Amino acid sequence: MYAHVNLSRLCTRVSLRASMATLCCSNYGNIVSYKPPAWCSSISEKAPKSRLILSQMKTPIVPWNVPDLPDGFKLYIKRDDMTGGTLMGNKVRKLEFLLEDAKLQGADAVITCGGIQSNHCRATAIAAREVGLKTYLLLRSNSEDPDESRLEGNLLLDLLVDATVVLVPKRAGYVSQLMPRMQHVVDELKEKKLMNVYQIPLGGSNGVGTWGYVEAYREMMEQEVFSQISDVVVPCGSGGTSCGLGLASYLSGSTVRVHGVSVCDDQLYFHTHCNEILNEMGVTGVRSEDILDVVDGYKGIGYGESTDEELQLLTNIGRKTGILLDPTYTLKAVRGMLIEMKTNPSRFSGRNVMFIHTGGLYGMLDGRLDDVMRKQVTDSRQIISYFSTDRPPHL
Ligand SMILES: Cc1ncc(COP(=O)(O)O)c(C=O)c1O
Repeated sequence: MYAHVNLSRLCTRVSLRASMATLCCSNYGNIVSYKPPAWCSSISEKAPKSRLILSQMKTPIVPWNVPDLPDGFKLYIKRDDMTGGTLMGNKVRKLEFLLEDAKLQGADAVITCGGIQSNHCRATAIAAREVGLKTYLLLRSNSEDPDESRLEGNLLLDLLVDATVVLVPKRAGYVSQLMPRMQHVVDELKEKKLMNVYQIPLGGSNGVGTWGYVEAYREMMEQEVFSQISDVVVPCGSGGTSCGLGLASYLSGSTVRVHGVSVCDDQLYFHTHCNEILNEMGVTGVRSEDILDVVDGYKGIGYGESTDEELQLLTNIGRKTGILLDPTYTLKAVRGMLIEMKTNPSRFSGRNVMFIHTGGLYGMLDGRLDDVMRKQVTDSRQIISYFSTDRPPHL
């Protein structure tokens, strides 16, 4: 059970109120007009004017007693893995703005891209289907043969909601190879099927989607947690989540420092990309380098690849705290955060840290945990049988 401190009582109260409101009158699936927070006045001109409600808001914030938390630190977790069921995770917050933009532009389909187990692609395909849009996904794959694709995890969900999947080489670069292929598919669909296809960039991280995490920051302000939080930590995969949070912290005049732990690419790439996003949003006078700490060094053997040590940490955290992390994003970010707390504590502006759980759990259901779990289950006799009443199990 979670320890009960003021913060968790406060959050429970807030989420209870929110869920009662949902019960009486759900906004889910509705388009609502969007008014940015007052502290965004310098960029409100370019802000979206409306938003599609798809996420369960005011996700809980609770203390998190993670194993081996370095002395002196207090850790909280914001459960953005609870933004929805199959729509769970950070992507749905971006999609609220992106899909509304697609609708406003008269799209009848969307296209986006990612890895074969992309959470962003899965969330896009499901949300788009819910609002009546067809989805095309360019997915990076080891094999060009569709029959070799294992129908599991996020890919299975993509297909269940009728997304059309286009396999592209695993190492295809985003700008050099994926963007031209997306454009080609868009042009073909326009010419051959008269379809208007809206393009969503990798990870939904552009000047529209990033508003999702400016809003998430406002949500946390309304949850009244920032008087007790010095730092926020998130995984950084395409940059929009950390960029939105860093921007919101800056514009709202907060001292909270935002750290994005990179799970691919590096600081230089992310600051360059986040500066492009800031430009698109109309931000002037501040750069990504000023508002965001990109933490490098924890992508391990590569994006989407896991070592046994990482998977052991993932299972250990799950066994001890009940919080399941995904191997590609949240586990790597938590690992990086814990090591930085220990070896480089001055990187944090204080000692009260909030980790945002950005979801991604379907990505772990691709068989990669089989070996580690099989060994743990066997060693600890976690599965036992009681087939015959003559042979009761040794508990
Ligand atoms: C589960 C999960 N967490 C974090 C991220 C990273 O967020 P962002 O792409 O906004 O940097 C992603 C996607 O890239 C994700 O799928």
